Amino acid sequence: MKEDLGKLKDEAEKKIRQAKDEKELDGVRIEFLGRKQGRVTHILRNLKDLPPEDKPLIGGLVNKLKQFIQKEIKEKKKEIEKKEIEGYIDITLPGKKPLLGRLHPITQTIREIKSIFIGLGFRVVSGPEIETEYYNFEALNMPRYHPARDEQDSFYLDDNYLLRTQTSPVQIRVMQKESPPIRIIAPGRCYRRDAVDASHFPMFHQIEGLAVDKKITFSDLKGSLTYFVHQMFGRDTKLRFRPSFFPFTEPSAEVDISCIMCKGSGCRVCSGKGWLEILGAGMVDPEVFKKVGYDPEKYQGFAFGMGPDRICMLKYGIDDIRLFFQNDLRFLEQF
Ligand code: DAH
Repeated sequence: MKEDLGKLKDEAEKKIRQAKDEKELDGVRIEFLGRKQGRVTHILRNLKDLPPEDKPLIGGLVNKLKQFIQKEIKEKKKEIEKKEIEGYIDITLPGKKPLLGRLHPITQTIREIKSIFIGLGFRVVSGPEIETEYYNFEALNMPRYHPARDEQDSFYLDDNYLLRTQTSPVQIRVMQKESPPIRIIAPGRCYRRDAVDASHFPMFHQIEGLAVDKKITFSDLKGSLTYFVHQMFGRDTKLRFRPSFFPFTEPSAEVDISCIMCKGSGCRVCSGKGWLEILGAGMVDPEVFKKVGYDPEKYQGFAFGMGPDRICMLKYGIDDIRLFFQNDLRFLEQF
């Protein structure tokens, strides 16, 4: 009897090992442990016919065999399931790439400009986007009915408040609070009632710059802007200071750089001129100093204002400003 049980055990073990799927494994279970015909079940059921002295020993052995087969079947089942899952999941496939956010190209450009001026000892400040007429125009030597106001058609909120048309009012706010020496840049949003087209948008960005101290001259302005242009666009970029007019600077200049696309020979980006206008600048007008209580005999200063939107467009060859503000990922993901 003992030997029979040993053989039965070997046979069950072999059949379990050879089972290829759950169906075959279930067949093995029924063969040995099935409630009606199972071979082990059969022995258990007939224990009562054994001589009483054999019952405890054989009974124990058969029960052990039953537990052994149950355990083996359970383990084999796990193994089969695991293989099936591996069949469905191809673990060699590349994983899904998580979507990474990125900085808007204008933010990147503003950060680049900021870091260049920080390197020159300038501090970054900001001012309100809702301004008063006084800060946006009056204090900048643009009294009511001054023709320069027409060029900056404004969004008025009421008789006094408007959305700032330029970052220049930040100059006034800083000078009212602090005394020279001052070296600041002020990036931020500006608003004008412009019709939307490829180069105009009612909301745009400016970066204002201001340096005030004793003995500041036009050469300091030229040196600082030349350093900036060389850092931003490369050392071989040329600068051209053209006489111009702004109410808050005297003398005033507009600064062109040699076209960064064609290097000056003339192309579509510079409309064949070889030059690109990138900013306005000048020496702070004594009238502005008087408005903030600085003595123009004692202090001089230079100021400049540039449009990072346009600079970003030039840098990347973008021909439509509207692309910046449409939030189309196909555009934004390129930067
Ligand atoms: N605020 C001027 C504009 O919006 C730009 C500008 C020109 C700013 C000359 C300046 C400056 O500080 O000196 O057109």
